[in-house]
Amino acid sequence: MKFFVDTADIAEIRELADAGLLDGVTTNPSLIMKADRPMKDIVAEICDVVDGPVSAEVTATDYASMVREGKILAEIADNVCIKLPLTLDGLKACKDLTGEGYLVNVTLCFSAVQALLAAKAGATFISPFIGRLDDINLDGMQLIADIRRIYDNYEFETEILAASIRTMNHVREAALIGADVCTVPPATLKGLVKHPLTDKGLDQFLADWKKTGQTIG
Ligand code: E4P
Repeated sequence: MKFFVDTADIAEIRELADAGLLDGVTTNPSLIMKADRPMKDIVAEICDVVDGPVSAEVTATDYASMVREGKILAEIADNVCIKLPLTLDGLKACKDLTGEGYLVNVTLCFSAVQALLAAKAGATFISPFIGRLDDINLDGMQLIADIRRIYDNYEFETEILAASIRTMNHVREAALIGADVCTVPPATLKGLVKHPLTDKGLDQFLADWKKTGQTIG
């Protein structure tokens, strides 16, 4: 499973990329707002740091403007992935843009049939939002399982990009189901490395090593 980080914070992206943890990045208009800098500058900088797909979202809502904005964003770098909302116009734009060879991430997916439509429109990635479904007492992880089954039934190549991840358990379950990618906020991604028994074990090993009086080099 690939890991993308869900942020527009370049410092966080650099740190995670340096640690070798990143296969890509997702941004959205809310994350750009938090970063408080011009979107095109942010996307260009991220694309310099990360080789994998960097999702940049259009803000137009009609087909023609989505295609126009998508192409402007894709000019920033070869690894820009145009992010389109799951609407009728978005799907039409997806079909045309992927037909022309652009990478497309269809976002704001909340049902399995929406994901089926995105795959039929040739989406490179589908982004089902787990946390936002859980927030309204629906089962976000069941959606990932349903999409996995449907895509496997028909051998769709669209990658399942599990989004709106809130917890370590979301990552674990999405991986067990076979999501292709998880996009994870930086703090949650860094938290995946943590286990209290790892810290405790390391403390013990270091304390015992000190007692030996040895050094390795
Ligand atoms: C996905 O690409 C979205 O940017 C993101 O995962 C949304 O997550 P949120 O529900 O935590 O805002």
